[in-house]
Amino acid sequence: MQEKKSFLKQKIDWESPNKNIVPITTSIGSDGKLWIGGCSIEELVEKYNSPLYILDEITLRNSCRAYKKALEKYYPGKSLPIYASKANSSIFMSNLISSEGLGLDAVSEGELLTALKGGVPNEKIVFHGNNKSDKEIEFAVRNNVKVIVDNDYDLERLEEISTSFNHDLEIMIRFTPGIECHTHEYIRTGSFDSKFGFGIEYLNNLFDRISNTERLKLKGLHAHIGSQIFELEPHNDLGEIMVNVILDAKKFGHDIQELNVGGGLGIKYTENDDPPSIDEWVKTISTSVVKACEKNNLDLPTLMCEPGRSIVSTAGITIYKIGAFKKIPGIRTYLSVDGGMSDNPRPITYQSNYSACLVSNPLNNNSKSKYTIAGKHCESGDVLFKEIELADCNTGDLICVFGTGAYNNSMSSNYNRIPRPAALLVCDGEAEIIQKRESPSDLLKYDVLPDRFIKQN
Ligand code: LLP
Repeated sequence: MQEKKSFLKQKIDWESPNKNIVPITTSIGSDGKLWIGGCSIEELVEKYNSPLYILDEITLRNSCRAYKKALEKYYPGKSLPIYASKANSSIFMSNLISSEGLGLDAVSEGELLTALKGGVPNEKIVFHGNNKSDKEIEFAVRNNVKVIVDNDYDLERLEEISTSFNHDLEIMIRFTPGIECHTHEYIRTGSFDSKFGFGIEYLNNLFDRISNTERLKLKGLHAHIGSQIFELEPHNDLGEIMVNVILDAKKFGHDIQELNVGGGLGIKYTENDDPPSIDEWVKTISTSVVKACEKNNLDLPTLMCEPGRSIVSTAGITIYKIGAFKKIPGIRTYLSVDGGMSDNPRPITYQSNYSACLVSNPLNNNSKSKYTIAGKHCESGDVLFKEIELADCNTGDLICVFGTGAYNNSMSSNYNRIPRPAALLVCDGEAEIIQKRESPSDLLKYDVLPDRFIKQN
């Protein structure tokens, strides 16, 4: 029987990193071990310890460029890819995104602040949220950031705050286009039953209301139908639906100049995943908007999209060290690592699957065994892999999990008071810290013991 080719031997797609399991610069060194960005992972762990998040700069930049290039190729009007920073927000990511000319989507004051500190120009930032606080809105208004209005309450607050600041505010409105797509229920957002956005049937009423406000200037429309989507059809439908809404808005005197079609393009986490390329995705949405505009004799609006996962996920890996083994004869062998659900909550939250290998034996040479990889948290469900085939391994060996750049660090927690890992950037044989490792004493920083308890003890 022919041996199945390891995912590490598959041809790398340089143009569309979301079609690879591994970062573009992944290699097997002359030592037979795993290297990324020209760096030996084993050496990085010796220096920076584990668990360790690592981002590959070339993969990140290629993903950004793929969006820019495809928009320029397929969309004759103006366009701007906007990175959804919830996927991985840091001063470094904001800086890199901005150096590639992308905009950024933020959903909290924290993400906004990070974007501004990272050097993203305010005119390229959009501010989302279904329950923005007054303080967050004021922060956005003061920094002249475009706000995406999600609901009536949001609109009321924005109207009041922009009037009190005597400040004209550019807004976009988010609506639910009624598109179903096949993805996990928790990350599906475009169907009518969603907590985000105005129902499409309510839009005419809304356009009328906005016409009667003093300071709100309706610039654009936004819709996002879900995440980790492999189908192209929903985005083809979305383009046409959005253009029809431009026509409705016209009847109320609004000249919509921007369409933001959200993000959602899936990535290849395992060999069973086959997402479309960035080029195909952008082509679909661009063609659909262009066709619908031509049909209705409309000038092309600026086309924006908001990819998160497909920009950063494949660029990221997480390295863990193996500790305890527990063999349950006839059932399974648990292998426990030094991280888990606090640095990657996706398996326990969405039953997500990943690919992994041993750093010292990436191609699984020699004998193989099946393992269950457990995290170190006090929770039976803290399992990163229910069953995975790896080369025989021992305590102290390192495991590399691929595709962890998105929604791992950004969704991490300190459950069980476990400090967050450090994050590194690798490129051309150099590794640089982009996030310092937390220590247990860092976690005490915000604890307060009221005076009377201090006296008691
Ligand atoms: N725009 C909006 C308004 C969004 O809500 C999202 C993701 C994006 C853009 C980016 O979508 P992407 O290109 O990353 O699919 N934590 C979940 C994913 C939640 C996605 C939330 N919204 C996960 O780990 O799978």
